[in-house]
Amino acid sequence: MDQFIINGGARLRGVVPISGSKNAALPIMAATLLTEGETILRGVPLLDDVESLSVLLRKLGANARRDDDGAIRLRVEDEQNCVAEYELVRKMRASICVMGPLLARRHKAQISMPGGCAIGDRPIDLHLAGMENLGADVDLIGGDIHLRAKRLKGAEMFLGGPFGSTVLGTANVMMAACLAEGTTIIESAACEPEVADVANYLNACGARISGHGTPRITIEGVKSLKGCEYTIIPDRIEAGTFMMAAAITNGELTLTNCRMDHLLAVIDRLKAVGVNIERKDGGAVVSSARRLEPITVATQPFPGFPTDLQAQLMALLSLADGNSIITEKVFPDRFLHVAELNRLGARLRKEGQTVVIEGVRRLIGAPVMASDLRASAALVLAGLIAKGQTRISRVYHIDRGYEAIEKKLAAVGADIQRMAE
Ligand code: EPZ
Repeated sequence: MDQFIINGGARLRGVVPISGSKNAALPIMAATLLTEGETILRGVPLLDDVESLSVLLRKLGANARRDDDGAIRLRVEDEQNCVAEYELVRKMRASICVMGPLLARRHKAQISMPGGCAIGDRPIDLHLAGMENLGADVDLIGGDIHLRAKRLKGAEMFLGGPFGSTVLGTANVMMAACLAEGTTIIESAACEPEVADVANYLNACGARISGHGTPRITIEGVKSLKGCEYTIIPDRIEAGTFMMAAAITNGELTLTNCRMDHLLAVIDRLKAVGVNIERKDGGAVVSSARRLEPITVATQPFPGFPTDLQAQLMALLSLADGNSIITEKVFPDRFLHVAELNRLGARLRKEGQTVVIEGVRRLIGAPVMASDLRASAALVLAGLIAKGQTRISRVYHIDRGYEAIEKKLAAVGADIQRMAE
């Protein structure tokens, strides 16, 4: 297993190219199971999760390979196997999004029930309710979900849950509905840009989806879909992470390939902290005053402040002049980074779904352990500013969702190295 060794203190300066969105690429790759012919996806980031999904798609009869120019070519060649086994789903929950395509195209699917993970319980009841609304029979047998449907029929449904909408649940039902008979309306659909990107890809393949990006999505079923060439949207969570890297080191970073309209809630909160963010030809220039203001924020489904940037913001606010408050409303247990940040000298106190952050003057480097993808990113941000050396173990978590993060950081002045543990 690899670790990062970071010597803190450098003020980051330079240009950071933002990669394609992991959370758009994964469901879009799964959506190719619905299509005939070849799909060429551009802008797919080089991530362990992308490789894991490619392994699963190959087991499901797709030819999935990356060209020398970085594009991923996908073509379904055999539709016999409909099983997404535990070993693969356990490693990556996003595998769940092969459910809708398999059911719609092959009329059956057997998907291992995803277990919990570092950010808490990960139920899929809304996914299954959506499939049943479309007319599927759903049974849980020996830890696997068995779904069957001769022909899915369009339906109206409400897909909101106790924590708001479901991103992959919306993508799954939307994908299944593309080949269903008749019209499907999803009320309380997820509005995330990644879900809209899946819809845009499917429409480019001949689907008839409207309302994506809003809480009500309408899908008119069609007979078939044809693969196409498509470019994935930029990763707004990576962009937000690097904005905070500029802010925490009092540096100045220019982010290219960054969609500001996907980050309005993040920009609003960072400006309240005292971070300067200016649009610049298709990207952003980010810098911060030395003094960081404390703020209050609660995570929400899009367009609210994203849960995937909660840990990174907590690292930044650890150095604000005063007390900040973060409330996590999407994944109430998503706080494994709190204890690790406290090891670096932060003063964080968790009270249920809320953490009170008492700003400190400095963080002190120490050995810490990554736990989930975004918590790991928070530890990297803290290490960039902590006095002395920070050693982050288990960085395989970060490799799942950030393309060559240590190289991008070193290129703008960070003293960070990857070493075998
Ligand atoms: C997606 O996960 C993202 N993953 C997550 O990003 C992200 O944190 C999350 O959306 C929220 O934005 C991918 O896109 C691959 P949800 P997803 O279904 O779809 C509850 C990262 O770091 N819920 O929107 O699995 C659920 O427990 C990852 O890149 C149900 O109750 O999340 C949670 O509290 C981490 N029943 C809330 O809804 C269900 O059937 C939101 O979950 C489904 C979800």
